[in-house]
Amino acid sequence: MLTITPAFILAASAFLRAAANPVGPTSTSKGGSGSSTDGQKFVLITVPPFPTDTSLKVIPDASHPFVAPGPGDKRGPCPGLNTLANHGYLPHNGIASFEQLIEGVEEGYNMEHDLASALSALAILGRGNAFINQVSIGGVSELVPPLPGKIDGKTAGGLAKHGRFEGDVSQTRHDIGEGDYQNFQDDLYDQFLTYVGRFGGDSPTTGNASVVTLPVLQEYKYHRFLSEQASDPNLEFSIARMIISYDEAAFVLNFFPNGTDNVIDTTILGSFFRNQTFPYNWHRRGDPGNFTFIQDAAAEILGAHPLVPGTNKNGVWTPDAPLNTGSTFTDVHLNIMQNLASSLNDVTGDLKTNVETLLAALAKPFGVDPLKVRPQGTPGQ
Ligand code: HEM
Ligand SMILES: *[C@@H]1O[C@H](CO)[C@@H](O)[C@H](O)[C@H]1NC(C)=O
Ligand SMILES: *[C@@H]1O[C@H](CO)[C@@H](O)[C@H](O)[C@H]1NC(C)=O
Ligand SMILES: *[C@@H]1O[C@H](CO)[C@@H](O)[C@H](O)[C@H]1NC(C)=O
Ligand SMILES: *[C@@H]1O[C@H](CO)[C@@H](O)[C@H](O)[C@H]1NC(C)=O
Repeated sequence: MLTITPAFILAASAFLRAAANPVGPTSTSKGGSGSSTDGQKFVLITVPPFPTDTSLKVIPDASHPFVAPGPGDKRGPCPGLNTLANHGYLPHNGIASFEQLIEGVEEGYNMEHDLASALSALAILGRGNAFINQVSIGGVSELVPPLPGKIDGKTAGGLAKHGRFEGDVSQTRHDIGEGDYQNFQDDLYDQFLTYVGRFGGDSPTTGNASVVTLPVLQEYKYHRFLSEQASDPNLEFSIARMIISYDEAAFVLNFFPNGTDNVIDTTILGSFFRNQTFPYNWHRRGDPGNFTFIQDAAAEILGAHPLVPGTNKNGVWTPDAPLNTGSTFTDVHLNIMQNLASSLNDVTGDLKTNVETLLAALAKPFGVDPLKVRPQGTPGQ
């Protein structure tokens, strides 16, 4: 479990502006499916049912071959989602709904339903459009206009937009201001491979020191932090970003291994990170990977070199004031809410229905009451 203890100081384009509505926002929709605002058609969001098949199986199946993205297709900072889109488990153009994200990560990786729902809710709320139920897995798309009335800024951002979800100290993307923070980077991946070479496990097929193990992520993530702490004068490593970035390291250990033997070697690692394709004859894990697994794995990775959340202010490392909500989980949830737009509290009608569905899905794994801990960030940030 992730807990705060003295030893483990974790405290441990064009918008789809309605031609008929050139003067700007109209009144908020009054409810009822099919309502329109700002020329956008409302789409009701519902949390899909739990999947019936969570067994070990070969991915992709015959109907999901790799197709390289075309010039207009969106890809972004998440190797997991990029791979799904390349295989048509998500729409190939990289624009997905809440339900498509959940069903995609469940089918492709056996990500557990509530974890998938929380991540997908953050994606739509923070970087998509909750009125039309769409988000770009990459940058801004004309298919995902900003919310009616632009109540959360002039664009919907997409998952590649920095802040709220995309953040610093990634494994294979630079920090914003330090280089390309959206796409796969060879120089970082080469560093990752040196950590596999130094700390990795042996394999009879791919060779010695070619298996990605817990010590590899423990040492590589710490290296990435120290490296950005030294080089990025604007490093932001708040509690939510810190934990989510360690969760993403935990994803590597929990969702990328071949499900038959739980081994992730450098061939598999390269297939997902570099080529963004499922490895040949790869099997998804044989049981749903849930929030507990991920937080436990993240705690193990962080536990080797515990860090405190903080920020570089003009290059000077400054620990954040503790949030002290009672647990790391509730701290992370609060910190996520500190970045989601406060204007989401003021919506009415159809949009409110969707926003509340998403806030509840996001809060669920953290065990927080979504009616009590509300979005309080600056719109458009
Ligand atoms: C709906 C579910 C998901 C959403 C919305 C999502 C979104 C994201 C976003 C926005 C990032 C960028 C964060 C950063 O700046 O580092 C990211 C990173 C990452 N995601 Fe996902 N993700 C999802 C599911 C998955 C799954 C199922 C996997 C693995 C199979 C995965 C693997 C990763 C990894 C390894 C990274 C870190 C990349 C790096 O640090 O270079 N994600 N994800
Ligand atoms: C791999 O490591 C094992 C045990 O450490 C050793 O016996 C073997 O020779 C090594 N194989 C190669 C190809 O280096
Ligand atoms: C990635 O794709 C390239 C080009 O198709 C191929 O040569 C390489 O073996 C692939 N690497 C992995 C790790 O799948
Ligand atoms: C996964 O394991 C199975 C069974 O051992 C093996 O046949 C398959 O080649 C492995 N796949 C990968 C990508 O390593
Ligand atoms: C995750 O799965 C494990 C093993 O089945 C279980 O003990 C745990 O309670 C689950 N956690 C969640 C949040 O579902």
